[in-house]
Amino acid sequence: MRVPIVAGNWKMHMSSGEAEQLARGIVGSLDGAAGVEIVVCPSFTVLDRVRNVLGDCLVKLGAQNLHWADEGAFTGEVSAGMLLTCGCEYVILGHSERRAWFGETDTTVNQRLRAALSAALKPIVCVGETLEERQSGATERVVRRQVTAGFANVSATEAAGCVVAYEPVWAIGTGMTATPLQAESVHTSIRRVLRELYNDNVARDVRIQYGGSVKPDNAAELFTRPNIDGGLIGGASLEPDSFAAIVKAALQPEI
Ligand code: PGA
Repeated sequence: MRVPIVAGNWKMHMSSGEAEQLARGIVGSLDGAAGVEIVVCPSFTVLDRVRNVLGDCLVKLGAQNLHWADEGAFTGEVSAGMLLTCGCEYVILGHSERRAWFGETDTTVNQRLRAALSAALKPIVCVGETLEERQSGATERVVRRQVTAGFANVSATEAAGCVVAYEPVWAIGTGMTATPLQAESVHTSIRRVLRELYNDNVARDVRIQYGGSVKPDNAAELFTRPNIDGGLIGGASLEPDSFAAIVKAALQPEI
C-alpha cells in the first residue's frame, strides 16, 4: 500500500519572514495529519529557518534542486551534502521550469538523481509533456524517454524509494489541470515503464504524484484515482489553508 505524498513547491517565493510564517501556518494546520506524507520545499536561502519552525513535527523538508558534485567551483549551485546539513529529506529534480529556463536535460537530471540517492536524499523526479507534445500525440513517448533516461544506472532498490511527479507543462501555473482520466492514464504508463526497466515491485511501490494547478477544489478527484499518490503543489502551497485542504484530500479512500 503506497502512502500518498503531498509536497509544496514554494518556487522562488517567500522572504525569510514570510517563509517562517507560512511554515508556522502549515504546522498549525497539519501537524498530526496521519496517513499522508507532507513535505515543504522552500528556496535554499530559507531552508534553515523553515527547518527550525518544523522542529520535530511530521512535516518534512525538501529542496528544489541540487548539483551532482560534492563540492567545487560551481557558482550558484548547492550540493546534496549541503542540503542534508540543512535538514532536507527530499529534493525536487528535473522540474520543467529547470528544464525550460536553466538547460536541464534528461542527462543532468540523471546525474542529479544519482547524487541525491548516494547521499540518501529522497528524490522527487519531475516529468511531463509540453502542450505541443500532447497535441501531437507524443505524451507517452516523451514521458517514457524522461523516465528511462532519468533513471539510467539507478538500481531497483534505489528506484523503489523515489517519487515521480507527473507534471504536464501546460498545466503548471495555468489553471488548466489535467483531467483525472488524463493524469491516471499517464501515471499508468509511467508504472508500465518502471515495470519494463525494473520489475513488478518497483512499478507497484514508486509513488507518482500529479502536479499542475492542483487546488483544493480539484485535488480529491485527482487523488482518488488508483495510480495517483498525492501531488506536487505550486501556487496553492503558498497559503496554509489551501495546502492543508489539498493534503486532506489525499486522505480520501481510493475509488
Ligand atoms: P502549480 O505548480 O501548482 O502552481 O501549477 C506545480 C509545480 O510546478 O510543481
